[in-house]
Amino acid sequence: MCGIVGYTGGKSVVDILIDGLRQLEYRGYDSSGVAVKCGEDIKVYKAEGKLENLCKVLSPYKDELKTATCGIGHIRWATHGAPTVLNAHPHTCTCGRLALVHNGIIENYKEIREKLEKEGCTFRSQTDTEVAAHLVAKKYAQTKDLTEAVRLATKELEGAYALCVMHNDYKNTIVATKRNAPLLVGVGDGEFFAASDVPAIIKYTNRAMYLNDNEIVTLTPEKMVLINSDGKEIPQKIETLPWEPVALSKRGYKHFMLKEIHEQPDVIRNILVGKLHAPDEPIVLNEVKLNKDTLKNLNRIQIIACGTSLHAAMVGKYLIENFCGIAVDVEASSEYIYRKTVTDSHTLVIGVSQSGETADTLTAIRQAKEKGSHALIITNRPDSAMARLADSLIPVNAGIEVSVAATKSYTAQLMAFYLLALYMAEVKNSVDKSTLTSLKSELMLLPQKVERILAHTENIQKCARAYASTKDFIYIARGINFPTALEGALKLKEISYINATGYPAGELKHGPIAMLDETMPVLSILMRGCVYEKLLSNSEEAKARNARMIALTNSDDEKLDDLFDYIIRVPEVQELFSPVIAMVPLQLLAYYIAEFLGKDVDQPRNLAKSVTVE
Ligand code: M6R
Repeated sequence: MCGIVGYTGGKSVVDILIDGLRQLEYRGYDSSGVAVKCGEDIKVYKAEGKLENLCKVLSPYKDELKTATCGIGHIRWATHGAPTVLNAHPHTCTCGRLALVHNGIIENYKEIREKLEKEGCTFRSQTDTEVAAHLVAKKYAQTKDLTEAVRLATKELEGAYALCVMHNDYKNTIVATKRNAPLLVGVGDGEFFAASDVPAIIKYTNRAMYLNDNEIVTLTPEKMVLINSDGKEIPQKIETLPWEPVALSKRGYKHFMLKEIHEQPDVIRNILVGKLHAPDEPIVLNEVKLNKDTLKNLNRIQIIACGTSLHAAMVGKYLIENFCGIAVDVEASSEYIYRKTVTDSHTLVIGVSQSGETADTLTAIRQAKEKGSHALIITNRPDSAMARLADSLIPVNAGIEVSVAATKSYTAQLMAFYLLALYMAEVKNSVDKSTLTSLKSELMLLPQKVERILAHTENIQKCARAYASTKDFIYIARGINFPTALEGALKLKEISYINATGYPAGELKHGPIAMLDETMPVLSILMRGCVYEKLLSNSEEAKARNARMIALTNSDDEKLDDLFDYIIRVPEVQELFSPVIAMVPLQLLAYYIAEFLGKDVDQPRNLAKSVTVE
């Protein structure tokens, strides 16, 4: 959450900062701001809301700022203090000679603020960040050295931060550092960039250095100097990023979310490439280091994730227990990290994260590793901090996901779990060969089935229009599709702000059924298989309470016509693979409802794509 950029070199800095911030908008869009070195001064410009507001603020100063070649920028997802101009970054010290941008949370900001206020600092915002600006300025007054000032100040900060700092006394210098928040330095020709993430710099350079915690880098157009927390210069580890400059285009779709939903057949094909050649051949997971002995040594698996990734993890539990007979627990990372967990070297810990940056999941994986567990990471970002913690890795190769609501990355995560569960079953010999072959054939058919759903969305659009005015929505399912109900409800909540909830259908009569009446839509995810008849009975119970019944089904059973007001049909699929097929219409339903309501589909209110604070 929050994105930072910095630049020093020969080019006009404002364009580079705005361009970088645009690529980081997925990290927040509550406010934005830049600070640029203009002659002797640092000038700061800020705006509330989306980046386009900052562009408007900057517009009258275009000519004046053209020659500026050093600056820092920030895009905010508000944690401390409302999303106002006053709380927008960059923040400055009392005299305004130092500017600083920050991603993270400074946990001991109250104590520091009290102390600094007593010493005469004037605070202007309600943010935790402002203390860092004043603290670095204080250390600078003592040392007259910006790098040393940053080093000394960060020793007093607790929590998570990536910081970029500039000072009036320095013509074209940026000092940057980080702890528990991402930051990388892009290395160009006579220029350097600092950024929270690759998309902000990849247009300019593919040579970069990821900063480790507590390292401090000083950038000028001529050189960069890297030091550790003791102030000792250390070697730089510049790498070539495996990224092409990507044109983040909607390719004719109205929103990135719709484009990403339509990319799912290719996403499924991509993840299978090199891993599943033919149904009768073994699955190849080159970066998974789990052999027969390691698997024998395991007595449990814990899957840890947040949000949509948590729902993929729940499907993963079902698959691994079903195919491999190993007990699996699924935990929300934010709960896992604040209790005594029974985790040890006999536990396989699987972290699932689109971004590979989610703070709670990162902490959970670190804790599990400290207890001796093998960490297997499933992520869309093999260059992320989480991937760097991995003992085993499954990159899901879904491509950049721009829309804040995850769609294609979810499908890719499901695919990763199919591959992993079948791989483990092969290593453990827990499923017979002919069953494995038929499961793998079915897996390979999924892209065509998703294509068939995407080719005919009219019915889903019609359903969206019919239910768009509802205030509440209930999704029910059982077994392997209970996570589908949760994810379907999450999609609708996120982008339409309708109060949607997913329930295991058997639980309805233990409470939620009290909410049902003729105003409540109940969507039943009715896939043929072991719980089909049970779910049908639960749907009858809901119908008996006059709920507005919708079925998402692969059944052509005629009795459904009487039971349901609306039916969305999907292609025939084995129950075990139905979460992939069932999710696509639910993504579309959420999309069309939000679009019909005129919501900001790609950037829903209050959300950020990467949640890098606890
Ligand atoms: O990057 P991660 O997969 O770790 O992110 C986890 C959640 O923040 C994320 O899935 C979130 O719930 C999305 N907005 C879902 O659409």
